[in-house]
Amino acid sequence: MTHTLAIIKPDAVASGRAGAILAHLEKGGFTVQALRMTRLNPAQARAFYAVHKERPFYESLVSFMTSGPVIPMVLEAENAVPALRKAIGATDPAEAEEGTVRALYAESKERNAIHASDSDENARNEIGFFFSQSELLAL
Ligand code: CMP
Repeated sequence: MTHTLAIIKPDAVASGRAGAILAHLEKGGFTVQALRMTRLNPAQARAFYAVHKERPFYESLVSFMTSGPVIPMVLEAENAVPALRKAIGATDPAEAEEGTVRALYAESKERNAIHASDSDENARNEIGFFFSQSELLAL
């Protein structure tokens, strides 16, 4: 079993889809190992998405990610990183495979309901970004 980080984004939290997304992931075989609700400030959102800082959508992404509460969580599964990427679907919900979280619950390429780590190394870093050691005792 390995771990990855998911974030239910402000669009999905605000529209009341967080519970459905969580249920979808649990039915898909992921177990929740840690979870909380928080609101990112601009510095945190910029740091989290620093890899995208040269992209034209960066400021808009920071503004969106700070627009309301988010729900970061640590998920466990076999090959959790690729498994979660598959379960959430393509960045753009119009291109996401049927039955994926984004096909079902995302609004647009930016307001796309959920984030998932894209490598084991990023998963470790992103888990550390949101959770302290004492919140990760179950791991
Ligand atoms: P995420 O998987 O969290 O990683 C980076 C985020 O940037 C992505 O989901 C989207 O929310 C956003 N994003 C990526 N590409 C675009 C784009 N072309 N236009 C607007 N937002 C984007």
